[in-house]
Amino acid sequence: MNAFLAACRREKTSYTPVWLMRQAGRYMEEYRKLRAQHGFLELCKRPDLAAEITVTPVERLGVDAAILFADILLVLEPMGVGLEYTKGDGPVIHNQVSSRTHVEQLIEFDPQEALPFVYEAVRKSRAALNGKVPLIGFAGAPFTLASYLIEGGGSRNYLKTKKLIYTNPGAWRPLMERLSSVITKYLNAQIAAGAEAVQLFDSWAGCLSPEDYDRFVLPHTRATIAGITPGVPVIHFSTGTGGFLKSLRAAGGDVIGVDWRVNLDAAWECLGHDIAIQGNLDPAVLVASSREVRRRVEEILRRAGGRPGHIFNLGHGVLPETPVENVKALVDAVHELSAR
Ligand code: CP3
Repeated sequence: MNAFLAACRREKTSYTPVWLMRQAGRYMEEYRKLRAQHGFLELCKRPDLAAEITVTPVERLGVDAAILFADILLVLEPMGVGLEYTKGDGPVIHNQVSSRTHVEQLIEFDPQEALPFVYEAVRKSRAALNGKVPLIGFAGAPFTLASYLIEGGGSRNYLKTKKLIYTNPGAWRPLMERLSSVITKYLNAQIAAGAEAVQLFDSWAGCLSPEDYDRFVLPHTRATIAGITPGVPVIHFSTGTGGFLKSLRAAGGDVIGVDWRVNLDAAWECLGHDIAIQGNLDPAVLVASSREVRRRVEEILRRAGGRPGHIFNLGHGVLPETPVENVKALVDAVHELSAR
């Protein structure tokens, strides 16, 4: 079995598997060339190009798993919220949600049928990977997607989202229930098309207090994960959540993804060693010298302590400014140092 899938199941592997979030992205020349000719959404909607972008980093970097090229916000488009990717400012939602009426106006759709280009990209990526490494499908978690719907884009303090949570439970609850159900079906359709593992991105959950996470988010994430096709490993990823790792575990997943704001050994201790862990190099370290990168890799591997069930990754996506040689050096260093 592939080292990545084995680690998801906490089986012993001969080296620590590594893959990277945003392994496809602006730091790669191949991606920038395609991006110069096509809009981001257009790339997502062209399965031939999406599959090419999915596979290139595997060939270039030697990672142990591929992540599908897509975006967590694609699933919001069929709801009729007006999704756009603007130059420089990132994604924008034009029709933001701020009331129960808005939630009720979100278009109902069947995720198994909508977004056929995503499933076709999964099939084409699997064919192009040809069994070399497994393909990871993904979706945004209910909270992170809700925050985009409410804020209209990224946010510094998530005040609109928190205001809705605190003052309008009659809007928050149906919104989260709707998202949870859509996300589960969307992930299961990716699995039916060939995704061999899935990652749920709760990228912005770290803006919440532990209590708010437990009350307003955990039940919905738990419902999402509980509905995922049995037997397919689920990686539950978030950032800034070192203060409530036990709650993330309680929400579900075979692997918990952690960022660099917490030490890997402390995080694993807190989660319990009977669950797999993914992480957790600060992506900014990839602009340091190769000696420093190697030292940091050694440090993370030391904290993992050779236990089965560690998947090496960055604590968040590769930054656009990163030299691609450093990313390759990182992957090689993880393989070399963990095989000793
Ligand atoms: O990891 C991968 O390379 C797989 C593909 C992938 C993308 N986005 C491609 C992408 C994945 C897994 C995502 C997830 C995603 N998208 C998340 C969760 C992960 C995270 O970063 O926390 C979020 C929050 C989004 C929403 C999103 N999409 C943002 C905030 C942006 C702008 C980011 C930026 O750096 O400016 C995007 C656009 C996006 N998604 C790009 C890529 C390669 C860059 C688009 C471009 O070419 O301009």
